[in-house]
This record gives sequence, structure tokens and C-alpha cells, in this order.
Amino acid sequence: MSTAVAAKKTNFIDRHYHLIRRLHSLSGIVPIGLFLFPHLTTNSSIMWGKALNGAKFADRGIDAAGAGVATFQHEVEFIHGLPALIFIEIFVLWLPILFHAGVGVYFAKTGRFNVSRYAYQDNWRYVWQRLSGYLGVLFIFMHVSSLRWGWNYGGLMPTFHADAAASSLATHLQKGSAGLLMAAFYLVCVLALVFHFANGLWTAAITWGVTVSVAAQKRWGQVCTLVGLSLAGAAIASVFGFATLDPAKAQVIEKQYQETKLRNEVQASAGQASAAGIESAHEGAMR
Ligand code: HEM
Repeated sequence: MSTAVAAKKTNFIDRHYHLIRRLHSLSGIVPIGLFLFPHLTTNSSIMWGKALNGAKFADRGIDAAGAGVATFQHEVEFIHGLPALIFIEIFVLWLPILFHAGVGVYFAKTGRFNVSRYAYQDNWRYVWQRLSGYLGVLFIFMHVSSLRWGWNYGGLMPTFHADAAASSLATHLQKGSAGLLMAAFYLVCVLALVFHFANGLWTAAITWGVTVSVAAQKRWGQVCTLVGLSLAGAAIASVFGFATLDPAKAQVIEKQYQETKLRNEVQASAGQASAAGIESAHEGAMR
């Protein structure tokens, strides 16, 4: 068979292998990997909110015990208030995840990763990178379709309500048909994804030719381990926080949060209206 015919027979990914390999590596870090930092920080606010924001919601009648629920509610409302959120979701999250997962599965199935370049990578990490990738695809699909698109998988995954954020997330992790097994599923999948990201960060430096020597790969490995451990801490705090939160008690705090928020808004706009009234009366008197 001539070379021309052989070239014609290879598919698009094979013909542009080096470019796609780099784009695949990049997309795992920006935007997907970077997204993990704010995402897990927001989710773990159910725990750190209690410690850091104990007095922040006192004017709304919420004490330190309810500050985790109030902080998470506040964070979710901030995200939902971002302009053009749906475009950010589609172009910064869903499409890059689709690309990264699709190409990743293709590489994993065809063995197109250049193993010889990972000569120093332990075998088990090579295997776990692929396994965590497959598990991650399943998890992210179920996670986003349930929490964002409202699929509840026949009662397995109760859906999320942005105006009752903590209580609905606690219900999602505890009160579906699998009970607390859903929280266990989350813990396994999220830790797998954290490993996938931290190990991917390490291999990406090889892909991009940044860490060439064994010593450089070792040093970068220490940084990646630290990144992975920090994210794992945030992941454990998130799952533990929602798996142990009483949804009924959280709902009471959310109701208090929403009612006082509404009252404060009404008072603020009444204040603005009366200030505007005084100003126009003053202007009238001046004329
Ligand atoms: C500790 C475990 C996690 C919890 C409790 C959690 C919680 C949530 C919540 C509540 C939402 C809906 C956000 C909203 O509508 O405001 C969401 C969306 C999402 N999560 Fe997670 N998450 C976790 C882990 C992860 C991981 C490891 C990933 C991997 C990348 C991930 C990816 C996403 C994506 C892509 C969305 C859709 C975001 C959007 O479209 O706005 N999550 N998550």
C-alpha cells in the first residue's frame, strides 16, 4: 500500500495527533482543572463558612451554626447572578469537558499515548489515570445532568434548587433511593477526579516539554502532590459537610436567609425612594 493511501486511511485525530494531544493536555488544565479550585472551594464553604463567617449573617438572625448553609447559599447566588452564565457553562465547561473526555477515551482505547515519554511514570499511575478518566466521565455526566439539568434518575439523584442550595444538595447526597451510598459514590468519584487532575498536571509538563530531567519531574511531582492533597481536602470537606447536614434544619436557615434578604432589599429600595423624594422636593423648593 502506498504512503498516500495509508495517510488517507488514518482519521482526523491521527493526522493531527501532536496538536490534538497538546489541546487535550491543555483543556485538562485550563479550563477544566482550574474550575475545580473555585468549585470545591464553594462546595466546602458548607464547612469553612461555619468557622470563618460565624458572625457574617447575624443581621439576618443566622448564628454561627447556620453560617455554613448561609455562606453556601450566598456563593450559589453569586454564581447564578453572573452575566451570560449559560454561555460560560457551555463554552468554558460543557464543551471543553466533552472534548477532553471524548479525545481521552479515544487515546485510552487506541493506546495512542506515547508511553515511552512517560518512562519514569509508575505503571499503576498510568492505569489509574485511565480508570479515573472513565469513572470521571460517568460521574460528571450524572452530576451535571442531575444538578444542572434536573434529571433525577428515577429518584436516585434528587435535584438541586439554587434558592435552597444546601438543603437540596444534602437531600441529593442522602435522600435518594440509594441513601448515603450516593455520598460514598461522590467521595470515590471526586477523589478519583482529583487524582486524575493532579497526575494529569504532572504528565502535562512532560507533554509540553517543561520537565525533561528526572530531577525536574520529581520536583514537579511534589508540587502536583500538594495540589492534589489540597483539592482532596476540599473534596472530603464538601462531601462530609453535605452528607451530615440535616436538610430540614438547613431549610429553616434558608427560609430565614431568603426572608431577611427580601426584607433588606425592600427596606433599601424604600430608603432610596424616600431619599429621591426628599431630593426632588428640595429641588422644587429651590426653583
Ligand atoms: C465534592 C463534590 C461536588 C459537589 C458537592 C458538587 C456540587 C455541584 C453543584 C451544587 C452544582 C450545581 C451548581 C449550580 O447550579 O449552581 C454542580 C455543578 C457542576 N459540577 Fe460539581 N460538585 C462536586 C464535584 C465536582 C467535580 C469533581 C467536578 C469535575 C470537574 C464537577 C463538575 C461540575 C460541573 C461541570 C458542573 C456544571 C456547572 C455549571 O454548568 O454551572 N463537580 N456541582
